Amino acid sequence: MNHASEHTDGRSRRFVFRVFRHTAGADAAPRFDTFDLDVLPGTTVLAALFMIQQQQDASLAFRFSCRGAVCGSCGMTINGRCGLACRTQLWSLPTSEIVLEPLPNLDVIRDLVVDMSPFWEKYRRIRPWLHGRIGDACADSAAQTREQVQSPRQFRRIEQYINCILCACCYGACPALRRQPNYLGPAALAKLQRFVGDNRDHRPAGQVAEVDNADGVWGCDTVFRCIEACPKDVRPTDGIAALRWRLVLYRMRQLVTRPRPLPAPKASQLPQLETMEAPAGKVAHEAP
Ligand code: SF4
Ligand code: SF4
Ligand code: FES
Repeated sequence: MNHASEHTDGRSRRFVFRVFRHTAGADAAPRFDTFDLDVLPGTTVLAALFMIQQQQDASLAFRFSCRGAVCGSCGMTINGRCGLACRTQLWSLPTSEIVLEPLPNLDVIRDLVVDMSPFWEKYRRIRPWLHGRIGDACADSAAQTREQVQSPRQFRRIEQYINCILCACCYGACPALRRQPNYLGPAALAKLQRFVGDNRDHRPAGQVAEVDNADGVWGCDTVFRCIEACPKDVRPTDGIAALRWRLVLYRMRQLVTRPRPLPAPKASQLPQLETMEAPAGKVAHEAP
C-alpha cells in the first residue's frame, strides 16, 4: 500500500482509490490495494491509473489504447458501475473514495484486465459483416459490383448500433449473463440488429433465426442495465426487441407459407397398372 504526497496547491483534491488486485493462477485470493492521489479538475480515472502506475505501483495492470472513448479497451467497474475509465471524470463522481474493479461476467487475467475471449466469440457468432445477395460471398453477387446506396433515413435506423465500440460495459452489467453464461449478451445482439436492420444486408432469414432461443433474444430480462452502462448511448434492449419482432414475423410467415402435405389419394383414384398404355413408339416393359 502506498500513499501519495500531500496537497501541492489549492486546486487539487485528494481521492482515495481502492483497486482490485489479482493475478490468475498466481494469487490465492483477490485483494484491494489503497492508493491516495491529489488530482486536478479534468483528471479521468484512466489518467489517475497512470499516475498510480508511474508514481506508486508499476505492477498495476489495466487496459487502454485510444484514451478518447473510441477503442473500447478501458471498460471497468467504477464505484459499482460499468464504464470507460478514459471517459469518467473523477471530479464528477459523488465521492472521493473510488473503488475500481474489473468488468463482471468475464474472468480476471490480472487486476483490471479481463479475458475478453467469450465476448469476442459471441460477437463472431452473429457474423458481424454485411452479407451480399449470394450467401456470404459478397464478391459473387452482381449487385455487389454497384454502389450500395443507403438513405439518411435508413442510416438513422441503425446509427446507434454503429456507434457501439465493443467495450463490453453492457456485457459486464447484464444480470442475465450472470445467471446464464451462454447468453449471447447485449453487445452481440445489438450488433446483429445493426446488420439485419441495414438495407444493404441480405443474409437469409433462417440465419437470424439462430438467435431465436434462450441463449439469444429470449435470454434478455429487459431490465435495461445495458442501456444504463453504455458510454456511447447505444440501447441494446431496443435492438433485442426489434430482433424479437423480426423473428415473430418470420415464424408467422413460415406458418402461412409452409407447403402442406398432400392428402393421400384414395385407392379408386390411383391408375391401374393393367389399364396403363405405353406412349406411342415406346416399349412399356422389356423382359430382361
Ligand atoms: S453497446 Fe455500448 S456498452 Fe455495449 S459494447 Fe457497445 S458501446 Fe459498449
Ligand atoms: S436488458 Fe437484457 S441484455 Fe440488457 S442488461 Fe438487461 S438482460 Fe442484459
Ligand atoms: S482507452 Fe480507448 S475507450 Fe478508453
